[in-house]
Amino acid sequence: MASFALAHTNLALVKYWGKENEKLRLPSAPSLSLTLDAFYTKTKLSFSKEDRFVLDGKEEKGKEAQRVFSYLSALLSFFRLPPSHFLVDSQNFVPKSAGFASSASAFCALAAAFGKEMGLSLSKRELSVASRLGSGSAARSVFGGFVLWKEGRESEESFAVPIEEKPSMPICVLYLSFGAEKKKVSSTEGMRLSKTSPFFSAWRQECRKACKEARKAIEDNSFERLGQISERNACQMHALTLSCGFSYLSSYSLKAFDLAKEIREEGVSCYWSCDAGSNAALLCRKEDLNFVREKAERAFEGAVSCFPASSGPGVEAWSED
Ligand code: PMV
Repeated sequence: MASFALAHTNLALVKYWGKENEKLRLPSAPSLSLTLDAFYTKTKLSFSKEDRFVLDGKEEKGKEAQRVFSYLSALLSFFRLPPSHFLVDSQNFVPKSAGFASSASAFCALAAAFGKEMGLSLSKRELSVASRLGSGSAARSVFGGFVLWKEGRESEESFAVPIEEKPSMPICVLYLSFGAEKKKVSSTEGMRLSKTSPFFSAWRQECRKACKEARKAIEDNSFERLGQISERNACQMHALTLSCGFSYLSSYSLKAFDLAKEIREEGVSCYWSCDAGSNAALLCRKEDLNFVREKAERAFEGAVSCFPASSGPGVEAWSED
């Protein structure tokens, strides 16, 4: 028997950036995301004589394999289960070569396949907690559509909840890839450094406020307000890193920021976002996607690859004989 899981990635509209507890991955503030339909990870997990990790058809023995098996052994002890060995076979439908992070979908799929294979019948809340232990943003991939991840002082208190699993808002994301680059500062290290910023407590308060405002914007079906809130939050995250002497932004990321503004000046709602890398994302309404894409392709003249996405579903897991 083997267990399978399929989980989609998500884009944070209010970002998770800072941990209160590194080991438990308890965030310093709540975050809010949109699960995406275009990018996902499919994982097959079964018992095995020895630990083996196959990624996209290729056996992995390095750091990635280490991270997978130390996570699985953390899950075994979290659920008070005896030590076991596994064969993990994952396929990433996330364009990693274009510099996209896949940890959210990867760890959510792994947690769900593990739960299934161990016969744990995990609730969505427990699955979110278990995914969080692998990668913070994975906690949110348990659900589809708009998702809120609560902070929380204890491990069991910090999990994601769905806000609107099938959004009525016609929101789209156009990812702009400027090519893969070796990340200079990992997100773990970036978060650690950011906590030393004199602005960190303001950032934390801003995220709490932004989550409340974003929920209201979703409730009111206001793309305009949600876009403004998420662009402001992304700017604040990158201002925070700069205040600690490092940045993920490149001249391309900043050009994408100007482009969103230019598009707005033409009367089309378009907002910028950027995570812990230089690739940017533009948020727009579904009906404006082609217009925004043409604008981006023209502005970057071949230096960009565009990947459109819209709202996607939560994680799914099943077993097969
Ligand atoms: O889950 P991690 O450790 O990959 O961190 C994700 C950090 C951001 O992508 C920048 C923000 C977020 O909330 O997804």
